Amino acid sequence: MGKKERSKKQRKPSQREETENGSFSALKKRNSLQTDKVKKTPKKSTNFRYVAPFERNHRLLLIGEGNFSFAASLQKHHLDDEAVLIATCYDTKADVELKYPDASEYIEQILQNGGEILYDVDATKLKQNKKFRNQKFDTILWNFPHSGKGIKDQDRNILDNQKMLLEFFKQSKEFLSEKGVIVITLAETKPYNLWNLKGLAKEAGFVSLMTEGFDSSFYPEYSHRRTIGWKQGISEKSNWKGELRDSRHYCFVLPGSNVVPYNQRKTFKEKSDSVDSSDDSID
Ligand SMILES: C[S@@+](CC[C@H](N)C(=O)[O-])C[C@H]1O[C@@H](n2cnc3c(N)ncnc32)[C@H](O)[C@@H]1O
Repeated sequence: MGKKERSKKQRKPSQREETENGSFSALKKRNSLQTDKVKKTPKKSTNFRYVAPFERNHRLLLIGEGNFSFAASLQKHHLDDEAVLIATCYDTKADVELKYPDASEYIEQILQNGGEILYDVDATKLKQNKKFRNQKFDTILWNFPHSGKGIKDQDRNILDNQKMLLEFFKQSKEFLSEKGVIVITLAETKPYNLWNLKGLAKEAGFVSLMTEGFDSSFYPEYSHRRTIGWKQGISEKSNWKGELRDSRHYCFVLPGSNVVPYNQRKTFKEKSDSVDSSDDSID
């Protein structure tokens, strides 16, 4: 990893950068869905190397994209010709155009390179969505999920997001191939580390495959977007960079899956233009 990437990874966000709704008070009461303790995240070692939580020829379904910059970057740098990419967002096409002025360039790029874009896809209603009938995916990935309802009370905010993710887990099962993996990327700070993500996955019938520190420099075009959209003074490139927060991929599979955790594979292949990778799991 070059000097530039290292300094990007080491940058600590301010507290204001940490939540969708601007609420920072520590959780005093645990809500009913929370069971696990908050773990202190160990500092990444200086030889941190990133392992992507998918394979280059996978059928990928991306959930909850913002400006589609992650999807475009992933497709550009890390997928082979036989891969399938369906990138989805919760918003309608009109809302995407309004909320994310830079989305159109990424969408065009994805379409030109053979990917598919779906608007108005609710992660909690995948089974009702005719577009996914009889479809199976090897990776279903959601970066920085957040319901974004602006709920000020932190307990209620957490609960709202937990309900959303629990339903997503339950719904997504049907769409996983035999080697299918669900990947959720979350910042390693409050309140996200109070969401009990692993507990939610377990409740929905999943088992943890691995966790892996997220390195946004692997996706050079990716610029994180908040659910509320691009905001002058908050989302400007020089200002708030959600993709640079310390964050982690959490990967889940169904019981009986014989998928080998990506960070335990000796044969992990990378393109020459990508960042080196190896084991960084805290599990
Ligand atoms: C914090 S933003 C992250 C956006 C994007 N993944 C990124 O990393 O830049 C959370 C995303 O989750 C989406 N979202 C919220 N509720 C959703 C739902 N029920 N189904 C699918 N996406 C949802 C929002 O529209 C928003 O795009």
